[in-house]
Amino acid sequence: MGRPSPLLLFLLLVVVLINIDDHCNCALLPLPMHLLRPQTGCHGHKIDGVSCLSWRFAVETNNLRNWKTVPAECEDYVGNYMLGHLYRQDSKAVTDQAILYAKSLNLAGDGKETWVFDVDETVLSNLPYYSQHDFGAKPFDSVAFNAWVETGKAPRLPESHNLYVTLRSLKIKVIFLTGRPESQREVSEANLRRAGYKKWEKLVLRGEKDVGKPAVVYKSEKRRELEKQGYKIVGNIGDQWSDILGSSTGNRTFKLPDPMYYLS
Ligand SMILES: *[C@@H]1O[C@H](CO)[C@@H](O)[C@H](O)[C@H]1NC(C)=O
Repeated sequence: MGRPSPLLLFLLLVVVLINIDDHCNCALLPLPMHLLRPQTGCHGHKIDGVSCLSWRFAVETNNLRNWKTVPAECEDYVGNYMLGHLYRQDSKAVTDQAILYAKSLNLAGDGKETWVFDVDETVLSNLPYYSQHDFGAKPFDSVAFNAWVETGKAPRLPESHNLYVTLRSLKIKVIFLTGRPESQREVSEANLRRAGYKKWEKLVLRGEKDVGKPAVVYKSEKRRELEKQGYKIVGNIGDQWSDILGSSTGNRTFKLPDPMYYLS
């Protein structure tokens, strides 16, 4: 064979350049901008999980509402998030602030100062269930979920338990306010005890009159009743916006992460 033709050399160069671009070797590029935005992908290349991160951001900020299921393409992303360190770290970022806030309060110590906790995905975690049910990517199955609740085996969310321990030491009363029905009172109480919540002031569940009410309405009404009974809600924490929106929300609210389901 003779010398390669200039055309062949040119084509080779093109192939090499395309490959460099394809592999998107950011480390070779001196631009610091790329270090600041590594997740966007160089040259507009899609990086797995990035659009799901934007989806989760929209969920956690309550910009995205009334969604029914996790987008199918985000099931793995949500699963990794929930089972990995980030869910726990995000939860800790919330409860650290709640603990700081609680400790900063100028408490009257009148026995009426109260903290309202949601139950599911707040003090108890249904991750053992959701890890077997597509992390929320399939429509909610109330029969299967209630069967899981009836086992009474939901573990605690450790970060919320830390907050609970702090509040107890500060003599702030703990009230659990849950969308679970009255029929699940016994199993819920047993589960809470088993998960390390030994004492509480009240466990409020949905009664007959509350069935079918949107969570935000039901929870606002129950908090109003608590206030009428003289309780002062100094703090309120939940994984759903419907736990902390509405009325009588308390002096300060805290939102835990939950990209698996949305309750209005
Ligand atoms: C807490 O909220 C109640 C009811 O809205 C209000 O009367 C009270 O002043 C608030 N306390 C503090 C410390 O902000």
